[in-house]
Amino acid sequence: MKPVSGFSPDFQWGVATSAFQIEGATGEDGRGVSTWDTFCREPGRIRDGHNADVACDHYHRWPEDLDLIAGLGARAYRFSIAWPRVQPSGSGPVNAKGLDFYDRLVDGLAERGLAAAPTLYHWDLPQPLEDAGGWMNRDTAARFAEYAAIVAERLADRVELWITLNEPMVVMAYGYAFGVFAPGQALMLGALPTAHHQLLGHGLAVSALRDAGARRIAIANNHTPAQAASDRPEDLAAAEAFDNLLNWQFTDPILRGVYPDLGVPLPHVRDGDLDTIAAPIDVLGVNYYSPVGVAAPSEGDALPFAMTDVPGVPVTGMGWPVVPDALRRVLLTLRERYGAALPPIQITESGCSYDESLEDQHRIDYLDAHVGAVRAAVEEGVDVRGYYVWSLLDNFEWAEGYHPRFGLVHVDYETQARTPRASYRWYRDLIGSGGVRGGGQAGAAP
Ligand code: FCB
Repeated sequence: MKPVSGFSPDFQWGVATSAFQIEGATGEDGRGVSTWDTFCREPGRIRDGHNADVACDHYHRWPEDLDLIAGLGARAYRFSIAWPRVQPSGSGPVNAKGLDFYDRLVDGLAERGLAAAPTLYHWDLPQPLEDAGGWMNRDTAARFAEYAAIVAERLADRVELWITLNEPMVVMAYGYAFGVFAPGQALMLGALPTAHHQLLGHGLAVSALRDAGARRIAIANNHTPAQAASDRPEDLAAAEAFDNLLNWQFTDPILRGVYPDLGVPLPHVRDGDLDTIAAPIDVLGVNYYSPVGVAAPSEGDALPFAMTDVPGVPVTGMGWPVVPDALRRVLLTLRERYGAALPPIQITESGCSYDESLEDQHRIDYLDAHVGAVRAAVEEGVDVRGYYVWSLLDNFEWAEGYHPRFGLVHVDYETQARTPRASYRWYRDLIGSGGVRGGGQAGAAP
């Protein structure tokens, strides 16, 4: 393998957000209700009863937010399209005003020289679809492909990269298996059909997007590598079960056309489904935050693993372990596992929450080390072509409400004032140097 030095000049430096977390305006211009609106109304679901009715008011303030992205010198913006704005009931009639909003947004990106990388589904499922079974219902996959076609017919001429789903693992695990995210069902392994139906929706959407003229297509998968609690065979087996259920379940069908060993039968998988799911994609999106400690389950547990801490490493404000080298290993493992079947990778999310200070040296250190880990993987021959910081703005962090602060830009939720943090200037300088160095403390080894 020819040694590569650093990032290519056309590397896609960007930032990422999602509709539900920033837009607000949940009742405006004909938007329908999503599962997350419903979930926020259920007592006890969201810390301190927060909801996303206003969020960052991005629906009204988007020109200012796009200016902030342009001010970074970034090349690309990953945002998401709210399905309930486009198709309020999840099927049937299109809400023109909803589609118009995204039309203006992609025009606004083009005016600023930014590439549009929309995600079609970042967890805000139209409530009427959930009422019909949500992702437990196979039919939702077909509805998703119809919605994808509607959006692409309008925007395909200006979209650089389509991202079908965001983190189907989290929807399955947190939404349907553990019940801590919308729609709040605790089906444990009974939630496996939601993985398959999302993947099927992805595959059907790939073909619908191509038919509508999409240029490049990706999925954004979360990779949370398991770190076995010890070398005991029970812990190693639990770590393998975790990796199969939460990581490889979402890449093997797409890149190999098979499921890994999930330890249970999959009666909901029909003939031909895996061919649909394995439709070629142009980019694999990798969202990475941290590894997780995994130990053998206790007697009678519903799952074949137990999640534990990763000992001896620092943690972010949310308590997530900081292990930059695990990102390098994820990238190398993907290359080993899929070989020539692995498309170019983009890191579609990477970031951390710390307290709300503007002098956020911890975030700079975190990002510097994670960019360093990607650079190391590139130099070891992995084809990585983009990196999107999560997130441009502080935003509504799901069940944690507004408490975690992930933004390069601080948001004052009383006034909606945006104030760039030190990490914003660091990232701007990093981008300006082609990924060689940022301002502040740069160059630390991962
Ligand atoms: C990811 C989600 C994103 C954000 C970050 C912190 O799992 O895709 O919306 O909440 O975590």
